[in-house]
Amino acid sequence: METINKSFADYIFQVRLTPEKLCLKIVSEQIDLAISVGAFADGVLAGFILHGSKVVDNQKNAYNSITGVLPEFRKQKLTVRMYEYIIPVLKEQGYRQIQLEAITSNVPALKSYIEVGFTISRILECYRGKVKQLQSALDENIEITNEWQADNLSWIWDWEPTWQNDVLSIENVKEAITCITYKKDAQIIGYLFFNNITKRVQQFAVAREYRNKHIASRLFNALAHHTGDTDVEIINLQSEVSGAKFLNRIGFELFIKQYEMKLSLA
Ligand SMILES: CC(C)(COP(=O)(O)OP(=O)(O)OC[C@H]1O[C@@H](n2cnc3c(N)ncnc32)[C@H](O)[C@@H]1OP(=O)(O)O)[C@@H](O)C(=O)NCCC(=O)NCCS
Repeated sequence: METINKSFADYIFQVRLTPEKLCLKIVSEQIDLAISVGAFADGVLAGFILHGSKVVDNQKNAYNSITGVLPEFRKQKLTVRMYEYIIPVLKEQGYRQIQLEAITSNVPALKSYIEVGFTISRILECYRGKVKQLQSALDENIEITNEWQADNLSWIWDWEPTWQNDVLSIENVKEAITCITYKKDAQIIGYLFFNNITKRVQQFAVAREYRNKHIASRLFNALAHHTGDTDVEIINLQSEVSGAKFLNRIGFELFIKQYEMKLSLA
């Protein structure tokens, strides 16, 4: 954890992992040390790539959950060299793809991933802010609950969530998640998942035929009740369909854009 925090000390924004947050990340993103890699210099961990593992459509996929090189070991292409080491291991274990996200202005990271062969699959947007409480009362159709099921909600989506926000990553840390639902005739037609440890909204959606009826506003109003004055993040929303105007209106501002990148191992 010390190496992670030292590697990110000069990052684009502040990253400070605590043991609690690192454990949550390992469990949520299914990080597997058997497909992760460390670069050592005289016994010192100089760089690392932690990969998560999931089976998607009967295919083993890996996810670069976090990469870092200590500042004093940079400019030696350690990231590229770590991939040269781990890609044959991943191939041997039957992995078909690696995916990751990198901030669009992170030149050393992007150069490294492009040299390895990754290509951009999507542009993603990340928002931050204090949710404005637009109404004082909760709507009667709203329910805030820690008892929920995520596997029957994908019919509401317009696009697939990224690795960190997909159903499995959320279910893996169920005890950290609050679900806010909006129901019509006992059916969920809008919902939001909020992670109480990372303070991030991991998914939110309203069924297509119920849009423009202020249902998302009511969901976020309930979130404001739940979070109070806390800063909240929503990361990795697919660009163009992120709902930027709506998010700005309720108190969020875009703070970075990321590229989702993929490398086929087939
Ligand atoms: C991203 C990171 C892991 C890359 O470290 P590294 O493997 O040592 O990479 P290098 O320093 O060798 O740089 C790779 C390339 O970027 C170039 N580069 C490095 N710093 C640069 C800068 N500030 N501006 C422009 N180019 C830069 C290098 O010259 C090299 O280019 P080349 O391939 O043409 O020779 C490291 O910078 C880091 O730990 N950053 C903080 C954490 C982070 O950003 N993690 C990745 C999150 S997606």
